Amino acid sequence: MYDWLNALPKAELHMHLEGSLEPELLFALAERNRIALPWADVETLRSAYAFNNLQEFLDLYYQGADVLRTEQDFYDLTWAYLQRCKAQNVVHTEPFFDPQTHTDRGIPFEVVLNGISQALKDGREQLGIGSGLILSFLRHLSEEQAQQTLDQALPWRDAFIAVGLDSSEKGHPPSKFQRVFDRARSEGFLTVAHAGEEGPPEYIWEALDLLKVQRIDHGVRAIEDERLMQRIIDEQIPLTVCPLSNTKLCVFEHMGQHNILDMLERGVKVTVNSDDPAYFGGYITENFHALHTHLGMTQDQARRLAQNSLDARLVR
Ligand code: ADE
Ligand code: ZN
Repeated sequence: MYDWLNALPKAELHMHLEGSLEPELLFALAERNRIALPWADVETLRSAYAFNNLQEFLDLYYQGADVLRTEQDFYDLTWAYLQRCKAQNVVHTEPFFDPQTHTDRGIPFEVVLNGISQALKDGREQLGIGSGLILSFLRHLSEEQAQQTLDQALPWRDAFIAVGLDSSEKGHPPSKFQRVFDRARSEGFLTVAHAGEEGPPEYIWEALDLLKVQRIDHGVRAIEDERLMQRIIDEQIPLTVCPLSNTKLCVFEHMGQHNILDMLERGVKVTVNSDDPAYFGGYITENFHALHTHLGMTQDQARRLAQNSLDARLVR
């Protein structure tokens, strides 16, 4: 089944480039940039990848991203991810990047963007992988900081297709960024947002009604609100679900409790994604395979999930 799932053509719609930083590359970049690391070696770092919630993961994820300094670093990060896409028949990807994680450390916006954009261009030309980049705002920072980030991005508007919202969800509702998203849409960007990962169904309503998103990232807590479920089904709003992430971050205790196949059978447009593959134990095929192993996902269900991902692309 693994090989069959691997060969299935699919799109990945929820993947943070900074979350694809494998420990081996992290150590290589630290050496290249002469940065001292708090971990003795790759194994020690990997053994720290045990999280009780989203925040514990984010603390390590932002610490890891500190080794990314030069345009070449961002190129190498993105290119390594695209090689994984090629190996797993991901024919199209719409990754996120978090500019504030880097600009707040003094890395110029264009250094980050140029490295990523060049790799995505090479991915299209040399690997045949379609792509569209999503600029994600960090929701634990202020509205004003998000507005400044949007200002910085506008001169490079052709490099992105959409803006998104990620980082610590609880206590940072979508409504906090309504004006930023209004402006982003008026500048021609599409919108997506993380909602209903750890946060309540109300955050999914806000993402839809206030941020006017094309897709909900995660959205697994929609199942707690029947009226919301009906809307998501009626309007065929895609959910970019990340099974391994959800179990690693204790959104579900075991994969056997995950609701993605129940949602699929109810007619929700759910898709399978890796979120932060270097931290959560696998890329997209490993996510599909876990659904087969723990929930008995059939080939027919896998085909429908993959088709949903191709249908829910923002760029074609
Ligand atoms: N940033 C990277 N991964 C994330 C996730 N799963 N939720 C929120 N922010 C993130
Ligand atoms: Zn995410």
